[in-house]
Amino acid sequence: MLLPGDGIGPEIISQAQRVLEVIAQKFGHSFSFTTCKIGGIAIDETGDPLPQATIDACRQSDAILLGAVGGPKWDDPSAKTRPEVGLLKIRKELGLFANLRPIAPLKELLDSSPLKREIVEGTDILFFRELTGGIYFGPSGCETLADGSQRAFSTMVYETHEVERIFRLAADAARLRRKKLTMVDKANVLEASRLWRRVCGKIAKEEYPELEYEVVLVDAMAMHLISRPTSFDVVVTSNMFGDILTDEASMLPGSLGMLPSASLGASGPGLYEPIHGRAPDIAGKGIANPLATLLASAMMLRHSCSLEEEAKAIEHAVQQVLAAGHRTADLVRRGEASLGTVAITDKVIAALK
Ligand code: IPM
Ligand code: MG
Repeated sequence: MLLPGDGIGPEIISQAQRVLEVIAQKFGHSFSFTTCKIGGIAIDETGDPLPQATIDACRQSDAILLGAVGGPKWDDPSAKTRPEVGLLKIRKELGLFANLRPIAPLKELLDSSPLKREIVEGTDILFFRELTGGIYFGPSGCETLADGSQRAFSTMVYETHEVERIFRLAADAARLRRKKLTMVDKANVLEASRLWRRVCGKIAKEEYPELEYEVVLVDAMAMHLISRPTSFDVVVTSNMFGDILTDEASMLPGSLGMLPSASLGASGPGLYEPIHGRAPDIAGKGIANPLATLLASAMMLRHSCSLEEEAKAIEHAVQQVLAAGHRTADLVRRGEASLGTVAITDKVIAALK
């Protein structure tokens, strides 16, 4: 299922489809693609950022590849609905509670990072962001007070089982990696974080004694991520903290344009997307970096289709293209030559062949 969405979404998704078609040919598979609407374009055409037809078609699919949602056109804070609602709702509808965001800077891009090479080199973090709970989904509202001013609230709510299931997934992943697990919270202030701390601490101790387990407060984590990123392996955290920390971490590899993510549930199709947003400032210019979406397609082949070799083929091809010195606009310094969305995909396809 393809959900191109808004902004640069359609441009990058069409390139991912080209690459997947090459993979199908090369490895003797046949993928069938369906395209549905989500986000702003769905609001324009149906009034709903996630039409029921899209939900139904997604449920029928084996995996979902999403571009981006939103844009200035739909940003009016008083609008009846917003494109982002479509994204939150598809995550919730499909029970995609675990958002995996790998941050492993490619050595070819170390000098694209705003941080010093010696800090970034060797970073290999896998974030597990809780995706269907917390402040994104808790009770919220806005009321007008007697004096005409307003009072608004959003509530962070977590239940034990929501913490347990994401924590176990993260701990299982840590077992297969470098065996270090960091849980990030704000337990010095938030009651919901204190629940996380108790639940995670107990599971770590009882079920994963072989892991090196640590807890870090989210404000300190923001600092450690850019001062000593190589000291982390698997990081698990709640929805909003994960949203913020992964955008921060995305600067380690140099560009948000390089990072894929996978959203998985207990069963059913997974949803794969680049973590960058809709980038309305460059939409339609043909310069968006499609590599995060290609890498998301690789994650999709790996996690939803059990096609490991095919996934690796895409990842290697992307790496080869970068090693050959090809760059998109987001990866070069101002004034340096760069390739557009289609041209860099052509290079990836050539590397695959
Ligand atoms: C992300 C995005 C979304 C989020 C927005 C677009 C709703 O920032 O996937 O990180 O906050 O989850
Ligand atoms: Mg985000």
